[in-house]
Amino acid sequence: MSGTHQTCHYKLVLLGDTAVGKSCLVVRFVRDEFFEFQEPTIGAAFLTQRLVLDNTTVKFEIWDTAGQERYRSLAPMYYRGATAAIVVYDVTNPASFEGAKSWVRELQRRGDPHVVIALAANKADKEDKRKVTIEEGEEYARENGIIHMQTSAKTAMNVKELFLEIAKRMPKQPKEDPRNAGGSFPIPPTPTKKEGCCK
Ligand code: GTP
Ligand code: MG
Repeated sequence: MSGTHQTCHYKLVLLGDTAVGKSCLVVRFVRDEFFEFQEPTIGAAFLTQRLVLDNTTVKFEIWDTAGQERYRSLAPMYYRGATAAIVVYDVTNPASFEGAKSWVRELQRRGDPHVVIALAANKADKEDKRKVTIEEGEEYARENGIIHMQTSAKTAMNVKELFLEIAKRMPKQPKEDPRNAGGSFPIPPTPTKKEGCCK
């Protein structure tokens, strides 16, 4: 082991239609739990979770948005300044795949220019009810240069892997800041740099 350990903070947002499993994915990642009857999110929920990668602790500050149509206008508030976004669809619901594409377009037009986008094809445990094929999802992701993973919040398949894949793509350039020596600390209220990174 060599070098100093640094902690990097990143704002991550989850977007997607209602009931695709955004909250379940976050709850699985943060608390390793799953609820069959997860309540629809109202407004948005905020959670945090850390991952350790080599000499870096990646701290995700996660905004789990509400997918119901009436909350749509709030979304820009949550994806603005986000370093990463997980766009979720339900593999048993083709309309939610179309919804996911429109979220990806919106992020590409109005999100941070360097935002890392991951597409989560969720509820992959429901193979017998699948309507969006793995190939369709992969082709779309390839064309748009984004991450794509089959996930299941229910069985935990690929949930941690998805966040790890995102963490690997986060900018981790150390800064001339003595606080990089280790530990974690709150993000300053007015960050000097738009992208999340080591503070
Ligand atoms: P909004 O908050 O309204 O935007 O919905 P959401 O995207 O957060 O969906 P939520 O996480 O509340 O999940 C909706 C329902 O889908 C829940 O009752 C879950 O039980 C179910 N669900 C979520 N993920 C999975 C999964 O991977 N597999 C299966 N079988 N069911 C899932
Ligand atoms: Mg929710």
